[in-house]
Amino acid sequence: MASPAADAAEDLRAIALEISTCTECRLSEGRTNAVPGEGAPDADVMFIGEGPGFYEDQQGRPFVGAAGKFLDELLATIGLERKDVYITNTVKCRPPDNRDPRDDELDTCESLYLRRQLQLVNPTLLVTLGRFSLTRLFPGQAISRARGQLLYKDGLAVYPVYHPAAALHQQRLRDVIIDDFRNIPTVLETARRRLTGAVADQQDGYGSDETDSNESSGEQLSLL
Ligand code: URA
Repeated sequence: MASPAADAAEDLRAIALEISTCTECRLSEGRTNAVPGEGAPDADVMFIGEGPGFYEDQQGRPFVGAAGKFLDELLATIGLERKDVYITNTVKCRPPDNRDPRDDELDTCESLYLRRQLQLVNPTLLVTLGRFSLTRLFPGQAISRARGQLLYKDGLAVYPVYHPAAALHQQRLRDVIIDDFRNIPTVLETARRRLTGAVADQQDGYGSDETDSNESSGEQLSLL
């Protein structure tokens, strides 16, 4: 019998195939390659960026340009490699001239693909890279306020950080994202214990006000 990870890997491959021929939104018109995502099908940590850029579109793989190199370095600071995590984006096709993804494009890609990828990988911790993946989960939330805090929503542990591309050339943001990544192992352990109920009644120490207000607000999670 196939293991759950093998089943998830097969289902993720099937989704990637669907994505590669998707024409559900206008972004498909300009793509060279769709960029479904990649990594461990049973990853503890899943990263969601914004959308493919030039190099990702050329290669069909997420985060392979300058921001990706920085992401690799950030992962290395906590002893992780790409193969240990799962990496994808809010939209799977490159927006023309790297413009921001539009709401209808984000909605379509989320409902058709991102939601299913998230359910299959079922990570202990979801790290959102930048504002687009953050606001999918927490509409209206500012990245400058939410970054570095462990948030919960409907059974999902979410840890927002700045986008590596934004942090690449701004020393202040760079220092912040490096610190936020350094905290990932601790945050992951906190999330693991919280989600398994071990510390269900305790505060987390990471932005607990925000954590509690988000958790108790009854807002609907758009991603599940
Ligand atoms: N920026 C993103 O958000 N995603 C990528 O895959 C590359 C750059």
